[in-house]
Amino acid sequence: MNTVIVVGAQWGDEGKGKVVDYFAKQANAIVRYAGGNNAGHTIVVKGETTILHLIPSGVLHKGKVGVLGNGMVVDPAVLLKEMEGLARKGVKLTSKNFFISERAHLIMPYHRRIDHAREKAKSKKGKIGTTGRGIGPAYEDKANRDGIRFVDLLNEDVFEERLRAALKEKNAYLKRVFKEPGFSFSAVRKEYLGYAKRLKRYVTDVSLLLDGMLVKGKKILFEGAQGTLLDIDHGTYPFVTSSNAGVGGVLAGCGVAPYFLQEIVGVIKAYTTRVGGGPFPTELTDAVGEHLRREGAEYGATTGRARRCGWFDAVVGRYGVRVNGFTGLALTKLDTLTGIDPIRICTGYRVGRKQITEFPADIRQMAQAKPIYEDLPGWKEDIRGARSLEDLPRNAIRYVKRLEALVGVPFFLMSVGPQRQQSIIIENPFET
Ligand code: IMP
Repeated sequence: MNTVIVVGAQWGDEGKGKVVDYFAKQANAIVRYAGGNNAGHTIVVKGETTILHLIPSGVLHKGKVGVLGNGMVVDPAVLLKEMEGLARKGVKLTSKNFFISERAHLIMPYHRRIDHAREKAKSKKGKIGTTGRGIGPAYEDKANRDGIRFVDLLNEDVFEERLRAALKEKNAYLKRVFKEPGFSFSAVRKEYLGYAKRLKRYVTDVSLLLDGMLVKGKKILFEGAQGTLLDIDHGTYPFVTSSNAGVGGVLAGCGVAPYFLQEIVGVIKAYTTRVGGGPFPTELTDAVGEHLRREGAEYGATTGRARRCGWFDAVVGRYGVRVNGFTGLALTKLDTLTGIDPIRICTGYRVGRKQITEFPADIRQMAQAKPIYEDLPGWKEDIRGARSLEDLPRNAIRYVKRLEALVGVPFFLMSVGPQRQQSIIIENPFET
């Protein structure tokens, strides 16, 4: 297959960085299609950890093309810092191997300030727990037609006009509603025109670029950020991010024709985590939750926040399969479960007197949902050295097979440790 899409199947942080890094070996280009620097993709190569927030993690392989699609919101200061960090590691991004969509929107300083001010003003219960990177306000401006795109930044007159109009409104909003200071036109103008100068050479028509590559039979990997349950349409609204993190984001966020899209790999953790607010039926606040957090190093790659941890939720898994059309799954962090006995799997919810097996849209139902569990025996053996299914202890195989049966899609690969080689590969969709 020539295209593989990697999508988070839960609430993000499923370990997409490592899965993308693996598939990227065979891809010619790796494309981010949604989100911004709210994402944090961690890749460990030869013991060295790299965390990327904007640039597709696949670029760590030599000779790859990295692309930021139009569906993204890009903070140029963060992007430049990330490019510098990669250059120090010997990964040089040039105008031949790195491209930014001219239609991608910019995150402006007022987006960040509004994001913070809004979260601060919300009640404890209502807090979304955003990453504070200005993501929501930037997408809001896009939908509202007040956004500033890279193509606008590159035309000084257009940029000035749009910035002036935006600041008039944003400054008044910040001052009147939140008692926060506004921004000076000249300072923001100078800062962003400086970014324009440094980033201009990478800005292009990404749809045209990808179409040209696909027509020539090149292999493209689409790298999802966040996860299905953080998708603005299909997630646990309003506790979601502001983009289509699911497969739908690929079409809108890159401008590629649907007939090019083939394999869709859902990345799913062997248990569940979430950061930020919102319902989480299988959440564990006991010693098992602590074990998962500690052994799985469940701390945000972007904000450092401790992630909430819980049992695997098959309702979530099945939902992800349905709304994304996963052709296969990558199961991650199986090793984190070592030492836990029994291991529980949520197969449905009880809401009041009703039993439900499909994911509800109503956030109040979700908040009341009591998981229905099935228990499986755990294992004690260290599984990080397993390279095939047969290398796993019997109970680990049983657990994996049960998950597969419950979600209804085969596992293409399983990750048994953070290192590149700590994986069990069953099938590679680029090779089918
Ligand atoms: P925002 O995307 O910063 O607006 O945050 C909205 C919600 O999505 C919050 O609950 C965040 O914690 C969550 N979120 C955003 N990006 C990620 C991610 O990459 N992994 C996990 N959660 C995320």
